Amino acid sequence: MSASDSSLSGLRSPVSGLSPAIGYVPTRLAADYSIATTEQSRLNVVVVGHVDHGKSTLIGRLLFDTGSLKQGKIEQVRKACAAENMEFEYAFLLDALLEEQEQNITIDTTRIPFHTAKREYAIIDAPGHTEFLKNMVTGAASASAAFLLIDAHEGIREQSKRHAFLLSLLGVRQLVVLVNKMDLADYGEARYRQIVADYTAFLQTLGLKPQHFIPVAAKHGDNIANRSARTPWYDGPTAVEALDSFADTDDLSAKPLRFVVQDVYRWDDKRVFAGRIESGTLKEGDRIVFSPGGKTSTIAKIERWSSPAITEAGTGESVGLSLTDQIFVERGHVGTHEQDGAYESQQFRARIFWIQQEKLRPGQPLTVRLVTQETTAEVVSIEKVVDATTLSEVTRPGSDSHVARHEVAEVTLRTKKPLAFDVTGNIAPTSRFAIYAGRAPSGGGVILPDRYFQRGKEGGVAENLFWSAGRITRQTREARNGHPGMVIWLTGLSGSGKSTLATELEKQLFISGRQVYLLDGDNLRHGLNAGLTFSAADRTENIRRAGEVAKLLADTGQIVITAFISPFAADRERVRASVPPGRFLEVYVNAPVEVCKTRDPKGLYARAERGEIKEFTGISSPYEAPVKPELELRTDQLTAAQAVEQLLEFLAPRLELNRDPQI
Ligand code: ADX
Repeated sequence: MSASDSSLSGLRSPVSGLSPAIGYVPTRLAADYSIATTEQSRLNVVVVGHVDHGKSTLIGRLLFDTGSLKQGKIEQVRKACAAENMEFEYAFLLDALLEEQEQNITIDTTRIPFHTAKREYAIIDAPGHTEFLKNMVTGAASASAAFLLIDAHEGIREQSKRHAFLLSLLGVRQLVVLVNKMDLADYGEARYRQIVADYTAFLQTLGLKPQHFIPVAAKHGDNIANRSARTPWYDGPTAVEALDSFADTDDLSAKPLRFVVQDVYRWDDKRVFAGRIESGTLKEGDRIVFSPGGKTSTIAKIERWSSPAITEAGTGESVGLSLTDQIFVERGHVGTHEQDGAYESQQFRARIFWIQQEKLRPGQPLTVRLVTQETTAEVVSIEKVVDATTLSEVTRPGSDSHVARHEVAEVTLRTKKPLAFDVTGNIAPTSRFAIYAGRAPSGGGVILPDRYFQRGKEGGVAENLFWSAGRITRQTREARNGHPGMVIWLTGLSGSGKSTLATELEKQLFISGRQVYLLDGDNLRHGLNAGLTFSAADRTENIRRAGEVAKLLADTGQIVITAFISPFAADRERVRASVPPGRFLEVYVNAPVEVCKTRDPKGLYARAERGEIKEFTGISSPYEAPVKPELELRTDQLTAAQAVEQLLEFLAPRLELNRDPQI
């Protein structure tokens, strides 16, 4: 294992700060940046294989033979070699190129561009397999084709197997095996055939079938871009021809649509959902379902800031969408077509690999990132552990169930929030995920098919159970919930719409995986507050009790929504003072009494006006409107759906952990 295998610094996460070059656009740049970029014509190729089996030489040779190097580069390297009294090697070309790229901060050094007559390629530089995993799983540069290198002289080694395993795990199906250093095996057909036979048998156990085996000598350029006279017994394609025969973007364009929301841009009433099309295509007028949650709308427009207008977009493109309906969609949501929805679940089986020194054990809290979705999760059980080199099963007693470094395992994971996903063998980018233990990238995996999975539909959320230990503080509960506990206090006249909004808000927050509970005035007056009248003193007691319950629930990490008239400002302020700062959000549900009177769903205003109900708020009892509520909703001017949308928009930043609670 090389030293760099354990160094995971500098990893680019899929969630923060991906560069525009790979499709995601940082928020800051949205206004002055065209968010439509394309990678359609470029194929990402990863080169893997055992250390010393010739990766750098192959890359150098490919760059040279395809004429992808800048003028004078090779002379420059030859000269440098001569000055040092060293023999020229093609691997040095790669070093020189990487060095040059590093000087230029705008170039992504993990990707080395080259081209053939047919198309553009980018080689994903993966010196060790940990780097390779990092790149693949974090989505920073997912390859849709791979060169697997085997040294003809040394034969199949440990890493030749491990890398193949990872390719199979990650769903890379376009493979070419290069049997390299044929010069050291005297270009012998028998040796080549032996390796082909052995490796084919191994790959078969993984369900991998390379499109081609090619005998090459990268050092001398045999069968790289040019057919070699030294292997007359070989009549297959050269390495470059094999690459050129591959499908673009691994045929993701032919798969169902997966539009991954990266960010939401807001201007007054307008919303643009920026994201990347991981697979499929979309066009204006398409009905789109956003998972998890299953909200549906129609694409009104494909937005581009500076580029010419388009009405269709395909795999690999980053676009902004505006929709015909105001629905609440946030980062992490996956847009699909109705007939081909993504799966949704909080529990799934996965095949994972583990690269962290510390062992993975059941119950350990983790973070899972799947495209732009992120959630806390835990391993429920470890069903099978396999040594990635020998492919033999590792048996351990149940009491010592764990996954050690470099092992691959089948596990059941439970996530805090429902995830939208696909299963392995289906749509690769949305079926693989990265695992973090704390902040450290610790592994990755793919989701295995399960006949119980449900396609996304509204309200389809599974149950939550979770691990916890030690004394349980509010912070611990909040960390587990993934959001702060708080009180959303709706106040307003009878008939202003408090209960309607509260009920809908509770549902929406619940669907999106939040812990939420509604305390409603009418309901509580049947139990906890039974016997209290509508006298000023009893209303104060009503709110005191409701406030105490809200405070307790907020301390359990819940989002508490309350719907009480709560007509007295002092009563509301008392509740505000009883919870930690910033955790009481007063929402004034404001409709003039005339409007409430016309609504009068329970006929109470009419009765109050006839004098049949005493001390009726707004008629014969005062209502003290909030002076500085955190949010005011004019429910006489908004539809219920619009008001809930405004509430969700208002809450979105406040639902994040570790944000300034005063926000
Ligand atoms: S509060 O004033 O003490 O906060 P609360 O929200 O619990 O009131 O209960 C209000 C509900 O009680 C109203 O929605 C209405 O259906 C019913 N109600 C019955 N009598 C009255 C009254 N005199 N004033 C206001 N609401 C009343």
